[in-house]
Amino acid sequence: MRRELIVAIDGPSGAGKSTLSKLLARALNYTNIDTGAMYRCVALAAFRRGIDPADEESLGSLGRSVRIEFLRSNGGERVLLDGEDVSAAIRTPEISLLTSRVSACLAVREAMVELQRRMGEKGGVVLEGRDIGTVVFPGAEAKFFLAASAKERGRRRYEELCAKGHDVDLAQTVSEVEARDAADSAREHAPLVQAPDAVAIDSTVMTIDEVLAVMLEEVRKRRSRA
Ligand code: DC
Repeated sequence: MRRELIVAIDGPSGAGKSTLSKLLARALNYTNIDTGAMYRCVALAAFRRGIDPADEESLGSLGRSVRIEFLRSNGGERVLLDGEDVSAAIRTPEISLLTSRVSACLAVREAMVELQRRMGEKGGVVLEGRDIGTVVFPGAEAKFFLAASAKERGRRRYEELCAKGHDVDLAQTVSEVEARDAADSAREHAPLVQAPDAVAIDSTVMTIDEVLAVMLEEVRKRRSRA
Protein backbone atom coordinates (compact mmCIF):
# COMPACT_ATOMS: atom_id res chain seq x y z
CA MET A 1 0.00 0.00 0.00
CA ARG A 2 1.24 3.51 -0.79
CA ARG A 3 2.43 5.35 2.29
CA GLU A 4 0.78 8.70 3.01
CA LEU A 5 3.07 11.72 3.34
CA ILE A 6 4.44 13.78 6.16
CA VAL A 7 3.75 17.46 5.47
CA ALA A 8 5.71 20.11 7.41
CA ILE A 9 4.57 23.73 7.69
CA ASP A 10 7.02 26.05 9.45
CA GLY A 11 7.16 29.80 9.82
CA PRO A 12 6.79 32.68 12.27
CA SER A 13 3.66 33.35 14.32
CA GLY A 14 0.75 34.95 12.50
CA ALA A 15 1.76 33.82 9.01
CA GLY A 16 -1.38 31.70 8.78
CA LYS A 17 0.11 28.31 9.65
CA SER A 18 -2.71 27.18 11.95
CA THR A 19 -5.48 28.04 9.51
CA LEU A 20 -3.66 26.58 6.53
CA SER A 21 -2.53 23.39 8.21
CA LYS A 22 -6.08 22.67 9.38
CA LEU A 23 -7.48 23.29 5.88
CA LEU A 24 -4.72 21.31 4.20
CA ALA A 25 -5.18 18.38 6.58
CA ARG A 26 -8.92 18.41 5.97
CA ALA A 27 -8.51 18.53 2.17
CA LEU A 28 -6.07 15.60 2.25
CA ASN A 29 -7.91 13.70 4.98
CA TYR A 30 -4.73 13.85 7.09
CA THR A 31 -4.29 14.43 10.83
CA ASN A 32 -3.31 17.96 11.82
CA ILE A 33 -0.74 18.40 14.61
CA ASP A 34 -0.30 21.88 16.08
CA THR A 35 3.12 21.64 17.72
CA GLY A 36 2.93 25.22 19.05
CA ALA A 37 -0.04 24.13 21.16
CA MET A 38 2.15 21.43 22.68
CA TYR A 39 4.79 23.97 23.81
CA ARG A 40 1.96 26.19 25.05
CA CYS A 41 0.67 23.30 27.20
CA VAL A 42 4.08 22.90 28.85
CA ALA A 43 4.20 26.68 29.49
CA LEU A 44 0.72 26.66 31.02
CA ALA A 45 1.58 23.70 33.24
CA ALA A 46 4.81 25.47 34.35
CA PHE A 47 2.87 28.66 35.08
CA ARG A 48 0.28 26.84 37.16
CA ARG A 49 2.95 24.99 39.15
CA GLY A 50 4.94 28.18 39.69
CA ILE A 51 8.04 26.79 37.93
CA ASP A 52 10.70 29.42 37.19
CA PRO A 53 11.21 29.55 33.37
CA ALA A 54 14.96 29.58 34.04
CA ASP A 55 14.76 26.24 35.90
CA GLU A 56 15.58 23.92 32.98
CA GLU A 57 15.65 20.76 35.05
CA SER A 58 12.11 21.21 36.38
CA LEU A 59 10.88 22.27 32.94
CA GLY A 60 12.44 19.17 31.39
CA SER A 61 10.78 16.77 33.80
CA LEU A 62 7.52 18.63 33.37
CA GLY A 63 7.81 18.28 29.56
CA ARG A 64 8.38 14.53 29.94
CA SER A 65 5.47 14.02 32.31
CA VAL A 66 2.59 16.09 30.89
CA ARG A 67 -0.06 14.30 28.83
CA ILE A 68 -0.99 16.25 25.71
CA GLU A 69 -3.80 15.12 23.43
CA PHE A 70 -5.69 16.56 20.50
CA LEU A 71 -9.39 15.95 20.41
CA ARG A 72 -11.11 16.30 17.06
CA SER A 73 -14.82 16.77 16.77
CA ASN A 74 -17.27 18.59 14.53
CA GLY A 75 -16.85 21.64 16.73
CA GLY A 76 -13.15 21.88 15.80
CA GLU A 77 -9.94 20.84 17.51
CA ARG A 78 -9.47 20.90 21.25
CA VAL A 79 -6.20 20.57 23.15
CA LEU A 80 -6.18 18.52 26.33
CA LEU A 81 -3.54 18.88 29.04
CA ASP A 82 -3.67 15.98 31.48
CA GLY A 83 -7.28 15.46 30.44
CA GLU A 84 -8.39 19.10 30.82
CA ASP A 85 -9.52 21.19 27.83
CA VAL A 86 -7.01 24.08 27.80
CA SER A 87 -7.68 25.29 24.22
CA ALA A 88 -8.47 28.84 25.38
CA ALA A 89 -6.13 28.98 28.40
CA ILE A 90 -3.01 28.35 26.28
CA ARG A 91 -3.72 31.30 23.94
CA THR A 92 -3.61 34.28 26.31
CA PRO A 93 -0.89 36.92 25.63
CA GLU A 94 0.74 36.02 28.96
CA ILE A 95 1.07 32.32 28.09
CA SER A 96 2.24 33.21 24.55
CA LEU A 97 5.18 35.14 25.98
CA LEU A 98 5.98 32.44 28.50
CA THR A 99 5.85 29.77 25.77
CA SER A 100 8.58 31.58 23.88
CA ARG A 101 10.86 31.14 26.94
CA VAL A 102 9.78 27.60 27.77
CA SER A 103 10.22 26.44 24.16
CA ALA A 104 13.86 27.62 24.25
CA CYS A 105 14.65 24.95 26.87
CA LEU A 106 16.48 22.00 25.28
CA ALA A 107 14.99 19.34 27.57
CA VAL A 108 11.47 20.56 26.78
CA ARG A 109 12.23 20.49 23.05
CA GLU A 110 13.63 16.95 23.27
CA ALA A 111 10.47 15.74 25.01
CA MET A 112 8.16 17.46 22.50
CA VAL A 113 10.15 16.34 19.45
CA GLU A 114 9.95 12.73 20.65
CA LEU A 115 6.20 13.04 21.10
CA GLN A 116 5.77 14.68 17.68
CA ARG A 117 7.79 11.94 15.96
CA ARG A 118 5.63 9.28 17.57
CA MET A 119 2.47 11.10 16.50
CA GLY A 120 3.61 11.59 12.90
CA GLU A 121 5.93 8.71 11.94
CA LYS A 122 3.24 6.69 10.15
CA GLY A 123 2.54 9.55 7.72
CA GLY A 124 -0.80 11.02 6.71
CA VAL A 125 -0.07 14.06 8.87
CA VAL A 126 0.35 17.81 8.58
CA LEU A 127 2.57 19.19 11.34
CA GLU A 128 2.86 22.92 11.86
CA GLY A 129 5.55 24.62 13.91
CA ARG A 130 8.99 26.18 13.70
CA ASP A 131 11.36 23.22 13.35
CA ILE A 132 9.29 20.49 11.70
CA GLY A 133 11.15 20.43 8.36
CA THR A 134 14.56 21.05 9.94
CA VAL A 135 14.58 18.97 13.15
CA VAL A 136 11.44 16.90 13.78
CA PHE A 137 11.05 15.39 10.29
CA PRO A 138 13.97 16.51 8.09
CA GLY A 139 12.87 13.76 5.68
CA ALA A 140 9.28 15.05 5.36
CA GLU A 141 8.11 14.63 1.76
CA ALA A 142 6.47 18.08 1.58
CA LYS A 143 7.83 21.13 3.39
CA PHE A 144 6.50 24.66 3.42
CA PHE A 145 7.91 27.81 4.96
CA LEU A 146 5.03 30.25 5.38
CA ALA A 147 5.97 33.88 5.99
CA ALA A 148 4.31 37.33 6.00
CA SER A 149 5.46 40.81 7.02
CA ALA A 150 5.62 41.45 10.80
CA LYS A 151 3.15 44.31 10.43
CA GLU A 152 0.58 42.12 8.71
CA ARG A 153 1.11 39.27 11.18
CA GLY A 154 0.67 41.67 14.10
CA ARG A 155 -2.51 43.02 12.58
CA ARG A 156 -3.93 39.49 12.14
CA ARG A 157 -3.04 38.60 15.72
CA TYR A 158 -4.63 41.83 16.98
CA GLU A 159 -7.90 41.05 15.19
CA GLU A 160 -7.87 37.49 16.50
CA LEU A 161 -7.41 38.69 20.09
CA CYS A 162 -10.08 41.42 19.75
CA ALA A 163 -12.54 38.86 18.41
CA LYS A 164 -11.90 36.77 21.52
CA GLY A 165 -12.69 39.78 23.71
CA HIS A 166 -9.12 40.61 24.82
CA ASP A 167 -8.39 44.28 25.46
CA VAL A 168 -5.30 44.81 23.26
CA ASP A 169 -3.44 47.57 21.49
CA LEU A 170 -2.43 47.24 17.81
CA ALA A 171 1.05 48.76 18.12
CA GLN A 172 1.76 46.68 21.19
CA THR A 173 0.58 43.50 19.47
CA VAL A 174 2.88 44.19 16.50
CA SER A 175 5.85 44.73 18.81
CA GLU A 176 5.02 41.54 20.75
CA VAL A 177 5.01 39.60 17.48
CA GLU A 178 8.40 41.12 16.59
CA ALA A 179 9.82 40.34 20.04
CA ARG A 180 8.62 36.74 19.81
CA ASP A 181 10.08 36.39 16.28
CA ALA A 182 13.43 37.71 17.46
CA ALA A 183 13.48 35.28 20.40
CA ASP A 184 12.39 32.30 18.26
CA SER A 185 14.98 33.07 15.57
CA ALA A 186 17.88 33.83 17.88
CA ARG A 187 17.53 30.95 20.32
CA GLU A 188 20.30 28.39 20.58
CA HIS A 189 18.23 25.23 20.09
CA ALA A 190 16.22 24.70 16.89
CA PRO A 191 15.94 28.39 15.91
CA LEU A 192 13.35 29.31 13.29
CA VAL A 193 15.07 28.79 9.94
CA GLN A 194 13.81 27.74 6.56
CA ALA A 195 14.76 24.21 5.48
CA PRO A 196 16.73 24.36 2.21
CA ASP A 197 14.20 22.09 0.50
CA ALA A 198 11.09 23.92 1.79
CA VAL A 199 8.71 25.71 -0.58
CA ALA A 200 8.64 29.35 0.59
CA ILE A 201 5.27 31.12 0.51
CA ASP A 202 4.83 34.78 1.47
CA SER A 203 1.20 35.19 2.55
CA THR A 204 1.32 39.00 3.08
CA VAL A 205 -0.87 39.75 0.10
CA MET A 206 -2.30 36.31 -0.60
CA THR A 207 -5.72 35.01 0.44
CA ILE A 208 -6.05 31.79 2.42
CA ASP A 209 -7.53 30.05 -0.62
CA GLU A 210 -4.60 31.10 -2.79
CA VAL A 211 -2.06 29.74 -0.30
CA LEU A 212 -4.06 26.53 0.10
CA ALA A 213 -4.14 26.03 -3.67
CA VAL A 214 -0.32 26.34 -3.87
CA MET A 215 0.12 23.87 -1.02
CA LEU A 216 -2.33 21.33 -2.42
CA GLU A 217 -0.65 21.45 -5.81
CA GLU A 218 2.79 20.84 -4.24
CA VAL A 219 1.50 17.96 -2.08
CA ARG A 220 -0.26 16.35 -5.05
CA LYS A 221 2.95 16.48 -7.10
CA ARG A 222 4.85 14.75 -4.31
CA ARG A 223 2.09 12.26 -3.64
CA SER A 224 2.16 11.06 -7.22
CA ARG A 225 5.92 10.52 -6.90
CA ALA A 226 5.70 8.66 -3.55
O1 DC B 1 2.78 28.64 16.77
P1 DC B 1 2.54 29.19 18.16
O2 DC B 1 2.42 30.68 18.20
O3 DC B 1 1.39 28.52 18.84
O4 DC B 1 3.85 28.82 19.00
C1 DC B 1 3.99 29.16 20.34
C2 DC B 1 5.46 29.24 20.71
O5 DC B 1 6.07 27.94 20.65
C3 DC B 1 6.31 30.18 19.87
O6 DC B 1 7.04 31.04 20.72
C4 DC B 1 7.27 29.28 19.13
C5 DC B 1 7.28 28.00 19.90
N1 DC B 1 7.32 26.83 19.03
C6 DC B 1 8.52 26.20 18.88
O7 DC B 1 9.51 26.62 19.44
N2 DC B 1 8.61 25.09 18.09
C7 DC B 1 7.53 24.61 17.46
N3 DC B 1 7.64 23.51 16.70
C8 DC B 1 6.28 25.27 17.60
C9 DC B 1 6.21 26.39 18.38
